[in-house]
Amino acid sequence: MSTSSQTKVLSRVGASAPKPLPTPKPAPTRAPVSPKSSGPLAGLHIAVIGAGKIGETLIQGLVDSRVVHRTQLIATTSNRDHSQALARKFHIRVAPANMVAVKTADIVLLCVKPQVMSEVLNEIRPILEPRQLLISVAAAVSTAYIERILEKPVPVVRCMPNTPCLIRAGMTGLCAGKHATAANVETARTIFDSVGRTVVLDERHMDAVTGLSASGPAFLYIVIEALAEGGVKVGLPRDVATELASQTMLGSARMVLETHEHPAKLKDAVTTPAGCTMDGILQLEEGGLRVTLIKAIVEATRRATELLHG
Ligand SMILES: NC(=O)c1ccc[n+]([C@@H]2O[C@H](COP(=O)([O-])OP(=O)(O)OC[C@H]3O[C@@H](n4cnc5c(N)ncnc54)[C@H](OP(=O)(O)O)[C@@H]3O)[C@@H](O)[C@H]2O)c1
Repeated sequence: MSTSSQTKVLSRVGASAPKPLPTPKPAPTRAPVSPKSSGPLAGLHIAVIGAGKIGETLIQGLVDSRVVHRTQLIATTSNRDHSQALARKFHIRVAPANMVAVKTADIVLLCVKPQVMSEVLNEIRPILEPRQLLISVAAAVSTAYIERILEKPVPVVRCMPNTPCLIRAGMTGLCAGKHATAANVETARTIFDSVGRTVVLDERHMDAVTGLSASGPAFLYIVIEALAEGGVKVGLPRDVATELASQTMLGSARMVLETHEHPAKLKDAVTTPAGCTMDGILQLEEGGLRVTLIKAIVEATRRATELLHG
């Protein structure tokens, strides 16, 4: 603000009623480069288009990981009140329209539902440029589908994260579109590495990633809940039973990841001959736990192929 305009405002404040309404300051189109972020994403601006459940999760994870600073983020939703709530919750900028957010972004993180993907892509297509990286987390939406709508060589990386990204324990599968370079994939990987583990795959596996690791937390919450109910049935207080079940699942998962042993070998180490674990396993086999979980992944993967059509 210039000195003369400052003077004008001051003199208005000092004048008698009626007081003029304050002129709203225009939202900054470009955030200042943050001194607090460093590494490959430092200074890059990320537009989160459709900051719903997974978009919010990624914002939270990214801010907590300090790989990006909140001033590097701008978000949109379809609803003004929701956007304002996001701005208050995360202290990030929100844009009144997708075009505004995309215009100044280096990375566009598309987090809308598959059904609204073509509408949003058509909206932002005119201003998207090949210098920008488009990352989509939408289930069932192929890179070829996105590239067909964009009709220009904007690099696209398709990612499938999961909700534990919120606590930086996420699992993300990602694949490159035809214009994406190895550096683009690395940039996407840096984002998702900051909120958990990543694996780069051929695109033909992306629906399976959706069925296994993106839907998986829901399946495993049911397993935790059921284990805890078992604990309650044999007399444990519910909160203790839930903690025992959850930490047991966490520890078992870490054993698989950190020892690199086959899960069957780790299971055998718990199963003393004629011990109690074997009796429990017998019940699991009789109840069809394995086949039920296999079918759950197969069915969730199959459904993932349909999502684009509602
Ligand atoms: N949830 C998961 O665990 C998960 C995991 C991996 C991938 N995904 C993928 O992530 C995507 C979103 O899923 P979600 O569970 O996060 O859904 P969600 O909570 O419904 O989020 C979608 C967001 O998109 C916004 N939106 C709708 N139309 C828009 C438009 N035209 N412009 C800008 N924003 C718009 C919505 O705004 P309002 O809030 O105002 O309605 C909402 O915030 C899906 O494609 C899904 O396949 C989800």
